[in-house]
Amino acid sequence: MGIAQDILADWHAAQAALLWQHELGVEDWLLDAPLNRYDLADAVKPVQVPVAAQPAPVPAARPAAPAVVLPDPPKVDAVAEARSLAAAAKTLNELRAAMEAFEHCEIKRGARNLVFADGLAGARVMIVGEAPGPEEDREGRPFSGRAGQLLDEMFETINLSRAAALPGDAVYLTGVLPWRCLGNGEPAPEDIAMMRPFLERHIELAAPEILVAMGNAALFGLTQTRGVARLRGQWMEALGRPLLPMLHPDTLLRTPIAKREAWEDLLALEARLAQ
Ligand code: URA
Repeated sequence: MGIAQDILADWHAAQAALLWQHELGVEDWLLDAPLNRYDLADAVKPVQVPVAAQPAPVPAARPAAPAVVLPDPPKVDAVAEARSLAAAAKTLNELRAAMEAFEHCEIKRGARNLVFADGLAGARVMIVGEAPGPEEDREGRPFSGRAGQLLDEMFETINLSRAAALPGDAVYLTGVLPWRCLGNGEPAPEDIAMMRPFLERHIELAAPEILVAMGNAALFGLTQTRGVARLRGQWMEALGRPLLPMLHPDTLLRTPIAKREAWEDLLALEARLAQ
């Protein structure tokens, strides 16, 4: 005999079985029509709202934190720092090291080498150029390209050479800027001003009798005056020394006719040295 027949046979047994089923969670028993519970599940399925479409949970409002006011970073006075580093340098080697360590001049980031000097420190004539070009940047030596070759030839005509061992026969060379300018542009006045304390100290330590300013930026760096085409060949003074402005050899390469003027200036320099 099956269970159903037993239940039918005994009403009380049937009621007990029903209650037992109910306790197990059965809620529908005999219905008039069959019920497909899968359809029922679909019908009552909760609508899934895409996550992205759901409104973002609103965080519980918190009392606003008091605004933190940070102090401005201390302003660096690059010129003052250059001045104190330069003043502390007691030798040319120390000056060079101080310039190597100086981090405030932006053009340094685009340069390969510091171009410090060449020739004989202590020579009677110190030539101050502008800023290194690509060759000087590569070699770390001022006036090492074509313009430098022309400069050597020019000064050899009055018996001065960067290779000479005696101060009276030699020249010493540097520039108003020790790093190549970004994109080989013109030396910027701010960079020249920032590096000027190093240039002044360089001249003090090398102690030349005469300065030659080679080109407009050199003239500006030493005298704050521009117009080398107008002023070339006229004796001026800078840092307590006689200064002769001359056309930069780059200009002479571009404008060979101007070599005549450079020749006049070289003769003026020779005459002054002979005094
Ligand atoms: N200044 C110049 O004009 N040329 C150099 O090579 C270096 C400094």
